[in-house]
Amino acid sequence: MMKPWKGIKRLLPLLAMSLLLSACGREDLSVLRPQGTVAQGQFDLIKLSISIMVVVMLVVFAIAAYVWIRFRRKPGQQEVPKQVEGNFKLEVVWTAIPLVLVLILGVFTVQKIFAFGEDYWNDKNAVRVQVTAHLFWWEFSYPDYGITTAQDMIIPTGKKIALELKTADVLHSFWVPSLAGKTDTNTDGTVNKAWIEAEQEGVYLGKCAELCGQSHAFMEFKVKSVSEESFNAWVESMKAPAVLPEDPAVAEVFRTQCLSCHAVGDQGGPIGPNLTGIGSRETVASILLNAEGSGNAVDTRPVQENMEAWLKDPQKWKPGNRMPDPKEDLGLTDAEIEAIAKYLADYKLSYE
Ligand code: CUA
Repeated sequence: MMKPWKGIKRLLPLLAMSLLLSACGREDLSVLRPQGTVAQGQFDLIKLSISIMVVVMLVVFAIAAYVWIRFRRKPGQQEVPKQVEGNFKLEVVWTAIPLVLVLILGVFTVQKIFAFGEDYWNDKNAVRVQVTAHLFWWEFSYPDYGITTAQDMIIPTGKKIALELKTADVLHSFWVPSLAGKTDTNTDGTVNKAWIEAEQEGVYLGKCAELCGQSHAFMEFKVKSVSEESFNAWVESMKAPAVLPEDPAVAEVFRTQCLSCHAVGDQGGPIGPNLTGIGSRETVASILLNAEGSGNAVDTRPVQENMEAWLKDPQKWKPGNRMPDPKEDLGLTDAEIEAIAKYLADYKLSYE
């Protein structure tokens, strides 16, 4: 028979591996580090339920240990112990205590469910954002300001952001772990509502949390919380007239090839992500982290390099995405792609 320590020895590499892999978990995707009102409330519920469960577990284990020791067969004991059938007092106690615990959990949970399900869409102080999920990117429209952006959702700190969430294609789920739990984008045309609020300025990572296709894992976005002043400046610079490439030849290619799907300012179409001020965003296509971004610490490249990398092979970064290949499908030359990458990288908004 295998000795116990041999079994443990065999498990050691597995243990080491799981510890190592858990270090790969992305900190900014943790619900255990809440940064917003909703996430904080949800975290409090997690703590409450775990505390109750730990206390129950300790009490049950302690009683069990006491019974094992107290009523074990003593040396030389032969007779059958006294048999007990039912104990009214005990039964009342172990029915009442769980009932009380479930009631406590229930009251707090229901309270939070209603608080977080509150509809702030018509609240004058809230900022309204319409979120539309697409394969594999996110669109953010601000109906009160008449602006639309993609991938980076800019919000003012300390304000309630009322969200309306829908999808343009399949089922996705909107999730910013440090700000709030998940909300699905339904395929039956119904609109889901939710709200978020960031307590501090910062950049929060969001992710699609519903398997939606080949590049589901790359369907990220950022929520960038800035001061109210910066937010207003951002709105203003989003509304400014569109900037087009200076070189007329590049501008012509951009207008005929890119603007048939994408938009800048008031020009172009709504099929692809809106590109207004894309040079100021945290990422290119949500996964190529820009060195200029404020929330990106590691593995970054200058925005122009990311832009070129994306435009030269969009399928490499997000397999199955719906953007035509600029070179193969649209016939752009390398020089044209590089010029457009430079133009987009330089297309920045001044708001910070
Ligand atoms: Cu969209 Cu997963």
